[in-house]
Amino acid sequence: MHGAEDADKEFVWHPYTQMKDWAGWEGRVIVRGEGFYLVDSKGRRYLDGTASMWCNVWGHGPNEVVEAMRDQLKRLQHSTLFGLASEPSARLAEKLTGMAKGMDKVFYTDNGSSAIESALKMALQYWRNRGKPEKTEFVSLEHGYHGDTAGAMSVGYIEQFFGAYKPLLKKVHRVPSPLLYGSRFGNEKDLVGWCIEKTEKALEKIGGRCAALVMESGAQIAGGVNIYPRGYQQKISQLCKKHGVLLILDEIATGFGRLGNMIEYEAQKSRPDIVCFGKALTAGYFPLAVTMAGDEIFNAFLGQYSQNKQFYHGHTFTGHPVGCAAALANLELYEKHNLMQQINGNAQYLESRLAEFEKISIVADVRHRGLLAGIELARNGKPLMQLKNKERLNYFVMGESLKMGVHLRTLGNVMVVIPPLAIDRDNLAKLMDAHRELAKKAEKL
Ligand SMILES: Cc1ncc(COP(=O)(O)O)c(C=O)c1O
Repeated sequence: MHGAEDADKEFVWHPYTQMKDWAGWEGRVIVRGEGFYLVDSKGRRYLDGTASMWCNVWGHGPNEVVEAMRDQLKRLQHSTLFGLASEPSARLAEKLTGMAKGMDKVFYTDNGSSAIESALKMALQYWRNRGKPEKTEFVSLEHGYHGDTAGAMSVGYIEQFFGAYKPLLKKVHRVPSPLLYGSRFGNEKDLVGWCIEKTEKALEKIGGRCAALVMESGAQIAGGVNIYPRGYQQKISQLCKKHGVLLILDEIATGFGRLGNMIEYEAQKSRPDIVCFGKALTAGYFPLAVTMAGDEIFNAFLGQYSQNKQFYHGHTFTGHPVGCAAALANLELYEKHNLMQQINGNAQYLESRLAEFEKISIVADVRHRGLLAGIELARNGKPLMQLKNKERLNYFVMGESLKMGVHLRTLGNVMVVIPPLAIDRDNLAKLMDAHRELAKKAEKL
């Protein structure tokens, strides 16, 4: 029998990790949570500066969401949505359709990638069921990320990550993402105009074969924290309607408050046909995601059984009752604590703290909205991926931040500020101190 640290090194294959390097690192096995901190087997505490992969809302430890999960576990641990219904999944669907304007039905999955996969399949079959089987092409944005399953990798293709899996993927048309930094434009208006023009040209070229345009709602996070200029998403939405193309919005990372809005597409004045949520839906306590659609989509799947119009997608844990109970309690807690107001207060504080980064010479651009910020690092006009001593920036940030009692990761050369959504002001201040100290240290190295 191994201790947990040795067992991890011996037996666990970590995601997106060069395991040769992992073996040389001091194991940090998290054994419990305390508020916004994670505590390891040696009693060391780390502020959860990544919101445990961008999904944590309330921190760690018992609260009403945990209570609701416990109650649900006592009553019914799991039952299927294949041929049966469950109380929590029915109640959550009612709640979500009440919140997300234009959405009438909820399709359950258990992670964001599967929610996207369902959305893509839904779009293809929608057109087939409507007698337009030629509509099979997808358009997506450069720098987009939608998950790690085959369809999701196709629409969110990143060469470094997915090159090896290309034989599995579908070719997708990519259009520019509206990122001002590094572009040839001097202002957002011109940039948006150019992006919209390029997107419209792509839609015209694909013509009647385009099934859907897929993009993250409000901002791209994994692609480097690219926050859309106001008006951009609305224009894309109008373009999709004009060209008879479905709009699939991915709110998996941005929905439920990350950018200061409960439902981001509404704040963006856009109208998706299909929208996906995950991550914060259950406060990050249970794997659950949803793909939501309006009746216009849903009704195309109705017909005689023999017409074979039904949606062929489902997972063992589809609509898991414990996850649905967690989501219901979580959404109630948002209202009880007026979380959106707290997020918007903290967002202003975050903005004020970001001003400190402008004085650091390697900081090339700072992008911010809500409780999300990206601090882009560059040296001599080139993305800072490696320090002068050849240490990789992401290893440096991860290793040094842990020594400072904070867990942080970078996205390439971008430092990401993405705290648990309900973080208190003192811990947010501590998080910003850590980011500033790390940027200053990296400046010298
Ligand atoms: C925008 C977006 N879409 C989809 C996903 C995939 O979600 P999951 O990791 O739950 O499969 C992510 C994950 O980070 C994401 O950020």
